[in-house]
Amino acid sequence: MKVDGTSYRTIWLAKDGRSVEIIDQTRLPHEFATLRLASLGEAAHAIKSMQVRGAPLIGATAAYGVALAMRDGTSDAALGQAYDTLLATRPTAINLRWALDDMRQRLKALPPGERSAAAWRRAAEIADEDVAINRAIGENGLGLIRDAAARKPPSSGKGGATINILTHCNAGWLATVDWGTALAPIYMAHDAGLPIHVWVDETRPRNQGASLTAWELGRHGVPHTVIVDNAGGHLMQHGQVDLCIVGTDRTTATGDVCNKIGTYLKALAARDNGVPFYVALPGPTLDWTIEDGVRDIPIEERDPAEITRMTGRTADGKILSVDITAPGSKAVNYGFDVTPARLVTALVTERGVAPASREGLLRLYPERKAAAAGE
Ligand code: MRU
Repeated sequence: MKVDGTSYRTIWLAKDGRSVEIIDQTRLPHEFATLRLASLGEAAHAIKSMQVRGAPLIGATAAYGVALAMRDGTSDAALGQAYDTLLATRPTAINLRWALDDMRQRLKALPPGERSAAAWRRAAEIADEDVAINRAIGENGLGLIRDAAARKPPSSGKGGATINILTHCNAGWLATVDWGTALAPIYMAHDAGLPIHVWVDETRPRNQGASLTAWELGRHGVPHTVIVDNAGGHLMQHGQVDLCIVGTDRTTATGDVCNKIGTYLKALAARDNGVPFYVALPGPTLDWTIEDGVRDIPIEERDPAEITRMTGRTADGKILSVDITAPGSKAVNYGFDVTPARLVTALVTERGVAPASREGLLRLYPERKAAAAGE
């Protein structure tokens, strides 16, 4: 996507051909800064500190992290160490393990002397595949937005023909290599001339909505409004939301979805108000080994200081952090929650739209049928 007229992905090979560059997402929205990653340690730090974040981008960064590790050694031990270091960075997004398994399996099959070049090649392929997958999700999701537009004639409602879409966290191009998952259909709808408006949940405590989603929608000219996380239910009760669309960090074989904390509450409100609740996901976000998301998906717990402190820019341009709780107040910082499949209207994937169920997923990914039958 474009930033001030220049096309960017969120991660790319640096000019030296032996390191990668990223957009440092911890600096947005106040500063657009890029950062060079030149080692395994720097790649792991970028994921852990959320300089890069979003399930698909975490996977792509991990793949490049393995390639960076190969600069210092290509033995089985070096490969194993890179795998373990990167896997330990964040627990919930399954794309991380997917990318690491893919890299390890391919590289282990090669003699050490060929591993480095193969690692860079495969990491670039994973990044390119992510872009293609998200473009396809966008095309498939666009049909759902067109359907919503068709259900809403120009004369109806307060907003006329405007389609109001609510999203949570950031599942835009910043969360992927390009396009985004949940936001890809939104960009395509906007580019196709559909009159859309996006309600952006601020997404406490890291504010991915307020700081990232609003920023990227604004760069692309998509009309949007930031709301506090608790406003969605009220807007739905008043007919101000035509559909919700969010991303997911891990989707079970039965269609439960795990996404940024607060997603579940939006799905409950959507169900109570008859608002369609869609979840956009790339194939690598599917964890076919898990059935019950509430029971089995590990939920990241982050530093409570992310809750008790807030960071922002002052009128004179300084970035400041301030305490928002009394000294000694305890906080607990769960990063994700699970929305059961029964609350999801449909899953939007690169292969099409399907009900959130084992049958729906197997219809899109029939190659998994044999594995499912053998379980
Ligand atoms: O903690 P984050 O910012 O990595 O969480 C990101 C999300 O929850 C996204 O919605 C999810 O990764 C889907 S991104 C296409």
